[in-house]
Amino acid sequence: MVMMHVRYDEWVGLIKRIAKKYIHFFPPKTFEIGGGTAVLGKKLVENGFAYAGSDFSPSMCREAGKKGCTYFCTDGRSLALKTGFDMIIFLYDGINYLMSLSEYTVLFHEVWNCLNHTGLFLFDITTRTNSLRYFRDYHDHEDFGEWSYTRHSYYNAVKHTQHNDFAVYHRIESSGLYEKTTEYHTQKLFMPHEILSAIPDDKFEVVGIWDGYSFREYSDDSERIHFLLRKISAV
Ligand SMILES: C[S@@+](CC[C@H](N)C(=O)[O-])C[C@H]1O[C@@H](n2cnc3c(N)ncnc32)[C@H](O)[C@@H]1O
Repeated sequence: MVMMHVRYDEWVGLIKRIAKKYIHFFPPKTFEIGGGTAVLGKKLVENGFAYAGSDFSPSMCREAGKKGCTYFCTDGRSLALKTGFDMIIFLYDGINYLMSLSEYTVLFHEVWNCLNHTGLFLFDITTRTNSLRYFRDYHDHEDFGEWSYTRHSYYNAVKHTQHNDFAVYHRIESSGLYEKTTEYHTQKLFMPHEILSAIPDDKFEVVGIWDGYSFREYSDDSERIHFLLRKISAV
């Protein structure tokens, strides 16, 4: 429910436009890294995509499993997939959880290994502009009755890290008391040129680096940026 306000339909639209423009057949075999509870995955299945998803969090995978999607519990940095995919996606700034550029390079190699010839890799980042504009020091809470959460988001402008600290309260039916759990999320906000430097240029060509959910070139003003890479196969 924390993800209730997420613009999944915008992502479905973007992925459909990408499939139409760059893949030329339908449905592409699509694999998602960091798919969370498979909300986007379920929508992609409903839109006819041949979808399999994954996340490295067992609790996310448990929830995803309830949606009936093909789902694996795995880290994007160590994918061990037997079949090739036409498109791999890693969205809603999951890639920002990587703390170093060397981890990006490891991930790019793994993705390359799992893509078919000329396959695509789509991922997005949340930007420093977004953090400075909205999440420099932001408090938020929602109450759904059975459970509620508070969130404190803050940005470290020296380390370029975005922090989201959650406290989740879940009502225990038998006692009426609330059980509290906490989660601390840290994301690293690399600049687009830094991410570009981590992409092995003999493995991928960069198709586009776009502002938001559009095909417009990104700028310093972009709050979310999508990267689309195409696999270069050895000849
Ligand atoms: C902000 S959530 C987005 C989840 C999902 N994509 C969505 O839009 O609902 C980021 C997700 O990425 C996952 N994640 C982060 N780093 C990962 C990694 N190295 N490998 C696999 N999953 C990862 C987290 O567990 C989390 O579920």
